[in-house]
Amino acid sequence: MLDDDLLGNFEKVQRDFQEATNRLIRDLKRQNKILERTDKRQRKEFDELMKLKKEIEDTQKEVVFTMGSIGETRSRETGNHVRRVAEYSKLLALKYGLSEEDSEILKEVSPMHDIGKVAIPDAILNKPAKFTPEEFEIMKTHAKIGFDMLNVSKRKFLKMAAVVAYEHHERWDGDGYPRGVKGSDIHIFGRITAVADVFDALGSNRVYKSAWEDGRIFDFLQSERGKQFEPKLIDIFFKNIGEFLKIRDNFKD
Ligand SMILES: [Fe+2]
Ligand SMILES: [Fe+2]
Repeated sequence: MLDDDLLGNFEKVQRDFQEATNRLIRDLKRQNKILERTDKRQRKEFDELMKLKKEIEDTQKEVVFTMGSIGETRSRETGNHVRRVAEYSKLLALKYGLSEEDSEILKEVSPMHDIGKVAIPDAILNKPAKFTPEEFEIMKTHAKIGFDMLNVSKRKFLKMAAVVAYEHHERWDGDGYPRGVKGSDIHIFGRITAVADVFDALGSNRVYKSAWEDGRIFDFLQSERGKQFEPKLIDIFFKNIGEFLKIRDNFKD
């Protein structure tokens, strides 16, 4: 019931938002043409329109972030988990060599990685013990579900969010899910979010486990270098570990 409501609401928000955005784009294009043969008064109107566009973009970011929190809230994870994942992702992206713009986009969309969890039954999502193989199969569907939810939009922003939802459980060695994509066939946004998400999850209390000590987390990340995670990203993580710990400190639960 709850899941249907959330999905229903989400789809409505998506639809309304898409319509509003399409309207805005049409307006902007029209306005742009006028501007070519325009006077100061029209230029002022255009500036106002740009301001409006920025406001809509900010709203989009807010919607995306809030939606992302839903997945985490359902599994009783804190809002700060997605916030930290966002910050770690951006830092990894910049150090990896992505542009400021792409790194910022990743920061905005990485909180959406678990949105598909809205469709996973509570009994599984919050099970305080290890999953049965059947339960794990159900749990794994959250990646594809998240992709399907987000991929309905033609907006670049939500398209990228869809990619992150789809690929954040893929592994560098190809043993991940849902598709078992390997190495650089995994989108860099997916590779980065995987590291950020796991680093944060290990250091946090979850219904099925308590937080790990730092030493154990670092050993794990190192041991998964080239297995679960892209080697270059693990190297970046350890080279800049102080900055990652500072983010963790700034966004404590
Ligand atoms: Fe996930
Ligand atoms: Fe997560």
